[in-house]
Amino acid sequence: MTRHDDSILRTKFAERLCHWAVVLCFFLAAVSGISWFFPTVSWMSGLLGTPQLARLLHPFLGIAVFAGLCYMFARFVGYNLPARTDAIWFRRIRDVLMNRHGGEPLRIGKYNAGQKVLFWLIMASILVLLVSGLVMWRAYFAEYFPIVVLRLAILAHAVAGIGLILLILGHIYLALWVRGSITGMVTGYVSRAWARQHHDRWHGELEAKQASARGGEQ
Ligand code: HEM
Repeated sequence: MTRHDDSILRTKFAERLCHWAVVLCFFLAAVSGISWFFPTVSWMSGLLGTPQLARLLHPFLGIAVFAGLCYMFARFVGYNLPARTDAIWFRRIRDVLMNRHGGEPLRIGKYNAGQKVLFWLIMASILVLLVSGLVMWRAYFAEYFPIVVLRLAILAHAVAGIGLILLILGHIYLALWVRGSITGMVTGYVSRAWARQHHDRWHGELEAKQASARGGEQ
C-alpha cells in the first residue's frame, strides 16, 4: 500500500494508464466533433491528419473512450455510490471552496460528493454518445433507422457531446485546483497529509486497515 512512510497508493497503474488513454482519445474525438459543429473552427479537423481521416477515426475514438470508461466504471463505481456523509460535503460547500479546514470533519471517502456527481454525469453522457453515435454512423447503421430517429440521434449526440466537454473542463479545473491530485493520477501516490486534508474518511479507513494488519503480524 505504501511506497515510503509518507505516501499512499491512490490509483493503480492500470487505472492510471486507462485514464490517460481515455484523455488522449477523448481530446482527439472532441476536437474533431467541435470542428464539425462550429464552422469557424473547421480547421481543427486537420488535427487527425485530414478532414476525411477525422470522419473515419472519430467514431472509433469515441468507442475507445467508451471502452476505457467501462473499465474505469468497474474499478471506481464502488467509491462513487452515494453515502450518508455526502450531505456534510454539500452542507459545507462554502468551507470546501474557501479551503477552510477545521471544525466538524467533512467525512469524505475516496471521492467527494462533487466528484461522485461528476462521475455519474460522465458515465451517463458517454452512454448517450455511444447509442446516438451508433445510430447515426453512416458507414454501418444509419440506413436502418427512419429519418426522425436519425435527427433525434444527431440532436442527442450534440447535446451530450457539448455537455461532456463542459463537464471535463470542470473536471480539469478542479484537478488543477486541488494541488497534488494530478501528481496522484500521474505517479499513483499522494501524501498522507493530502489524503487527511481532502479525503479524511478514506485516510482514516486506510490507517485502521494498516493498524489491524500490523496487529495481525505481531
Ligand atoms: C487533461 C485532462 C484531465 C485531467 C488533468 C484529469 C485529472 C484527473 C485526476 C487528477 C483524477 C483523480 C482525482 C482524485 O484522485 O481525487 C481524475 C479522475 C478521473 N477522471 Fe480525469 N482528468 C482529465 C480528463 C478526463 C477525461 C477526458 C475523462 C473522461 C472522459 C476523465 C475521467 C475521470 C474519471 C472517471 C475519474 C475517476 C473519478 C471518480 O471515480 O470519481 N478524466 N482525473
